[in-house]
Amino acid sequence: MVLFYALLGSLSLLPVSKTWNTDVHNQIGFMAEHFLSLQTTEVLEQVLEPQYGGSIGRAAAWADSYAHTEEGSFSYQWHWIDSHDRPPTDCNLDFHRDCPEGGCVVRAIANQTQILRSCILQVKAGTLRDGNNLTCSYALKWISHFIGDITQPLHASGLAAGGNLIPTTFDGISTELHAVWDGYIIYSITGVQNFSNETISPYPASLLSRIEEDVFAEPISSWISCSDPSTPLRCALEWARESNAWTCKYVYSHDYNETDLLTDGYALEAYPIVEMQVSKAALRLATWLNRLVIQMYEQDRAAGVHFQINQQ
Ligand SMILES: *[C@@H]1O[C@H](CO)[C@@H](O)[C@H](O)[C@H]1NC(C)=O
Ligand SMILES: *[C@@H]1O[C@H](CO)[C@@H](O)[C@H](O)[C@H]1NC(C)=O
Ligand SMILES: *[C@@H]1O[C@H](CO)[C@@H](O)[C@H](O)[C@H]1NC(C)=O
Ligand SMILES: *[C@@H]1O[C@H](CO)[C@@H](O)[C@H](O)[C@H]1NC(C)=O
Ligand SMILES: *[C@@H]1O[C@H](CO)[C@@H](O)[C@H](O)[C@H]1NC(C)=O
Repeated sequence: MVLFYALLGSLSLLPVSKTWNTDVHNQIGFMAEHFLSLQTTEVLEQVLEPQYGGSIGRAAAWADSYAHTEEGSFSYQWHWIDSHDRPPTDCNLDFHRDCPEGGCVVRAIANQTQILRSCILQVKAGTLRDGNNLTCSYALKWISHFIGDITQPLHASGLAAGGNLIPTTFDGISTELHAVWDGYIIYSITGVQNFSNETISPYPASLLSRIEEDVFAEPISSWISCSDPSTPLRCALEWARESNAWTCKYVYSHDYNETDLLTDGYALEAYPIVEMQVSKAALRLATWLNRLVIQMYEQDRAAGVHFQINQQ
């Protein structure tokens, strides 16, 4: 047993981890756009490079391609956090133990959120426009991507490199467990091969009304119970822990090998989880950005109030 886990531990250092498929990231961004305030939309349009036309949906997949370039390879490990736990019997995530030197998705969300705060102030001051500060455009693109990644249960689990090393079969295709959660399950819900990377697709659009109707297993208020961007590390850690818990509650507690996951019942019970996690990512992303913009734009007013109180 010791050897087994030691082996998995060393294998988890291999660069094999992937991410929600890129078009799923696009769709999470398009869904989030639906919940952005007008003010947020206008601010983000100045932050993003012009080629995205102000769309965080179009920009949400950039982080994957960037991570695979030589220049962006430092950001590769920012897409997940490897817990050192034993699902399905024991799930837990510890920031100091599990976020290595060089970063992880929790640290990256916190770091890039802090950067984006200063960028919003630059928009407000009129110095940042048309995406003329790449540090800022990158920060927004990373946040739009990582708030997606952190809801994928296997992005908050270190066992077998986030399930990348667990061979499985899905619809007759040999793959691995991580890829099943990144794409196979969500595509099979509606029988599509992929989603658009240019505009919202019908199935993600249908999730929008379900979010508004608040009909998921967990109430939407709980999805955004931690959504104050001035405490980004605390919230990102809470989101990662919640995803990590799914690996005990479902991902590894059902048989995931030897049978075909599409037809053996595994996928069917995973559908509502994936639908909720994707919807959650979209609402969280929008809430996070809306609150960031409000906080930065009202900063002066808040400071003014503070000043007046001090004068009394
Ligand atoms: C969408 O995907 C197509 C085909 O892969 C690609 O040519 C196009 O640049 C992509 N668009 C965006 C906004 O990423
Ligand atoms: C924080 O972000 C900056 C700019 O993207 C980057 O250079 C730095 O490595 C990041 N630090 C961490 C700990 O993620
Ligand atoms: C771009 O934004 C970053 C983050 O706020 C800031 O540190 C940097 O000074 C800005 N660059 C320019 C040229 O304004
Ligand atoms: C989606 O799949 C179709 C059919 O397989 C393909 O033609 C198209 O290029 C794909 N679109 C993207 C954005 O990958
Ligand atoms: C299949 O998964 C079960 C746990 O669900 C595990 O006990 C068993 O060893 C696995 N078999 C193989 C061949 O990986």
